[in-house]
Amino acid sequence: MCGIIGYTGFEQAAPIILDGLTKIEYRGYDSAGIAINANGKINLVKTVGRVQALYDRTHDGKDMPGVCGIGHTRWGTHGAISERNAHPHMSQNGKFILAHNGIVENYTRLKADLLAKGVVFKSDTDTEVVVQLLEANYTGDFKEAVIKTVAMLEGTFALMITCADYPGTLYAVKQNAPVILGLGEKENLVASDVTCLISRTKNVIYMEDGEMAEITTEGIKLFDFAGNPKEYEVKTVDWDIASSEKGGYEHFMIKEIFEQPQAVRSAISPRIKDGKINFGEKSLTAEDLKKFNRIIITACGSAYYAGLAGKFAIEKLCGIPVQTELASELRYNESGCIDEHTLVIAVSQSGETLDTLSAIKDCKACGATVMSIVNVVESSIARASDFVAYTYAGPEIAVATTKGYSTQVAVLYLFAVYTAAALGRINSGEYTKLVSEINAIPEKMETCIEMNGGIECMTPLFDKAEHVFFIGRNTDWAVAMEGALKLKEISYIHAEAYAAGEMKHGTISLIEEGTPVIAVCSNMRLQDKTASNIIEVKARGAEVTMVGPKGCESEKQANHCIYIPEMRDVFAEIVTVIPLQMLAYYVAKARGCDIDKPRNLAKSVTVE
Ligand code: AGP
Repeated sequence: MCGIIGYTGFEQAAPIILDGLTKIEYRGYDSAGIAINANGKINLVKTVGRVQALYDRTHDGKDMPGVCGIGHTRWGTHGAISERNAHPHMSQNGKFILAHNGIVENYTRLKADLLAKGVVFKSDTDTEVVVQLLEANYTGDFKEAVIKTVAMLEGTFALMITCADYPGTLYAVKQNAPVILGLGEKENLVASDVTCLISRTKNVIYMEDGEMAEITTEGIKLFDFAGNPKEYEVKTVDWDIASSEKGGYEHFMIKEIFEQPQAVRSAISPRIKDGKINFGEKSLTAEDLKKFNRIIITACGSAYYAGLAGKFAIEKLCGIPVQTELASELRYNESGCIDEHTLVIAVSQSGETLDTLSAIKDCKACGATVMSIVNVVESSIARASDFVAYTYAGPEIAVATTKGYSTQVAVLYLFAVYTAAALGRINSGEYTKLVSEINAIPEKMETCIEMNGGIECMTPLFDKAEHVFFIGRNTDWAVAMEGALKLKEISYIHAEAYAAGEMKHGTISLIEEGTPVIAVCSNMRLQDKTASNIIEVKARGAEVTMVGPKGCESEKQANHCIYIPEMRDVFAEIVTVIPLQMLAYYVAKARGCDIDKPRNLAKSVTVE
């Protein structure tokens, strides 16, 4: 996901914009740029690679005087990674400058019309079409040009624009990609992520789709796309800049792994009062829950694997069938089974994943009720849902999610027990025991972290491997998938997770002498079965590392052991995942990978 930031005030804009860009580097990007609107002209510097190159080329921004400007980090979708394709983009006459997050889906036709009028394009991007349209639509009125241009666009766009004829003025436009306005003291800001703003102000406005904002030092005016004024509500961000910094850790990822027990406490504690689970006044009631005959959990990546953990818990405790669907698939399957009796649970750390956002909009159109489990407050998925359960994990900076995942799982466990009680599927004694076990999860996580303080010494078993297999059954299979993703996405080693019982149906042919296999064995009900699968792969030459409680059957069969505390099966994933996260981290570190910003990845994927 691209990052955008804009500033207008009385201080020099360039250093503030550059600092804001560093705050969103974690989202992943391949090029960056900054533009300052001063003395009737636009000063523009763009680069491939890191924001540091902008600091170097502008002497920390000192070479770019002016109090109004915009900055951008690009994760390229249309056009190769190059300086010419980096944002911001300038109109042909140099009057307009624009940064964009999203995709303009009808850019090809619009570009053809402009080319026919003789416009000369400098880049291969969809974004440049918008800035050339602004020039074509401009008759001296900045706002009118924005209104005319936006009316011509289809797709997803968060736009940030400034015009050389309007010093000190920014326009922001929001359609299906986040835009947040920051109200400061004699200064105002706009960004795609709160992280850029909170060092200047915690007073923010979350723009809605279909809105545009005029931002000057005097204040902020909000309009709809037709230019009609709109009211807005100022909210206060409830976390501080320190929580989005490394705090002495070498990488954000290891910091966030160790933050998990506290993050899960933040997700659980507000929802358990006097031994009872409570999702707050705007939550699904027992009456609401009784009308559903199907639950679909939809998400992407790790959030999908968190959804699998929720599936096992809800099915086991509530006796309701739960389907987990990759959001990018759910959108296009024509099952026709979604209706007013369907509850869709969307899981997302960023709350901006376009596949998930689009999936829930389609489900709502079929009559489904949507509850979302998200971390970022007021994010697009949260605002598109009927009910929201925030995970309160705090800002997650590393691209590879850890506390984002575990807090999602925690909220799903809470929801499973809450629903089981609401539907009368468990008695009060079972309810009390389950609530107490959920309350004890953070402590179990802390124990697990302590038990694996030395896990880095196992790195040599994996860091030179070409392929690593993860196997597990039922809930262990779900967490094996998350473990495989963690290893893949930050160490770039090919890793795959298989249902342990499935290996013999084909995949076992891939096992050869020394192939590393990680067997996840926290599900005590199935430990004998998984132990026999360990024997199977070992017989073909695999070197097996088991992840399970001391004394489990697999301990006797494996070559190496990673120990975890014993847990109830349906609550095991949240603890079992921790050594898998730690192992992935240390293997990636041994391989010298860019752990917090893995290649090709973005923290939030706002394109289909
Ligand atoms: C996980 O480590 C990845 N960063 C990725 O799979 C992520 O979980 C996925 O893109 C979903 O993101 P979301 O939770 O913000 O929707």
